[in-house]
Amino acid sequence: MRVFLFGANGQVGRETLAAAHGAGARIIAPGRADADLSVPGAAADAIRLFAPDAVINAAAWTAVDKAEEHANEAFRINAEAVGEIAAAASEVGARFIHLSTDYVFPGTGSTPLSETAPTGPLNVYGASKLKGEALALAANANSVIIRTSWVYSVHGVNFVKTMLGLSKTRDELAIVDDQRGGPTPASAVAAACLQVAARRDGPSGLYHFQGAPDASWADFAEAIFAAAGKRMKINRIPTSAYKTPARRPLFTVLNCAKLLRDYGVHQPEWRGDVERAVRRLIASHEE
Ligand SMILES: NC(=O)c1ccc[n+]([C@@H]2O[C@H](COP(=O)([O-])OP(=O)(O)OC[C@H]3O[C@@H](n4cnc5c(N)ncnc54)[C@H](OP(=O)(O)O)[C@@H]3O)[C@@H](O)[C@H]2O)c1
Repeated sequence: MRVFLFGANGQVGRETLAAAHGAGARIIAPGRADADLSVPGAAADAIRLFAPDAVINAAAWTAVDKAEEHANEAFRINAEAVGEIAAAASEVGARFIHLSTDYVFPGTGSTPLSETAPTGPLNVYGASKLKGEALALAANANSVIIRTSWVYSVHGVNFVKTMLGLSKTRDELAIVDDQRGGPTPASAVAAACLQVAARRDGPSGLYHFQGAPDASWADFAEAIFAAAGKRMKINRIPTSAYKTPARRPLFTVLNCAKLLRDYGVHQPEWRGDVERAVRRLIASHEE
């Protein structure tokens, strides 16, 4: 299977590259210089040139707070470019696997969200990703959109690395405790994308995928400090006490049964994975 991968330098992208061989995939991964999603047509041209069997889009504008002041750029990369990629994939007969986010939801409920739950993003990033979903599904009937959440890995910028960094200078932190979601290993997202890509005639549409069990940011932080053997006093605070430019949804626990039913993909158990990631970061002095 020849897979065209956007975002190879990001968290999910790097894990996709790492897992490709084992999944029987040959990856073609243009860097930003070869296919800049901010340039209309650039990504589509690259797809037409290589005519892959599948396209995985792990590239995105992921700076949630910064998106509030850069809405045009966020919509360009998270929506318009996604529509272009989906259309080009359709032209060459490629399956399109695209990643979206739990931030498409308003987070007002209290039961796990299925793929048909009403959306209602609270911030620009979520709105741009929701628009990207719609454009992808409209442009390519063989699109699979995987909404995921709270992605972490040993690469890039993420909550695990931020907490480990803070633990070097702090022994007390205030962490939000009323946002509930699912920490998700980037490696598990990558594996899910490759598995879905390999099923050329598999079902298309929206899917949910996040780590289990559900947790708050404070729970997540506690697990990270425990794995690192760091003593940290965590003051559990409400979202209202932690002001950010972009509003965040409170409850985005996702019901991931559909991906299991259609593709046999199980939710990853994040606690053990976080322990391994923390050990790796400490051993390589990258924390
Ligand atoms: N991180 C999370 O917590 C989270 C949660 C829910 C959903 N998601 C979704 O999951 C997917 C993967 O997230 P991630 O955490 O792996 O992202 P990430 O680490 O931030 O990586 C994003 C990638 O997108 C690339 N990119 C950004 N702008 C680009 C442009 N104009 N042209 C070409 N490439 C561009 C970046 O390239 P450079 O390396 O050159 O900057 C980078 O490789 C995204 O769709 C994201 O929306 C993430």
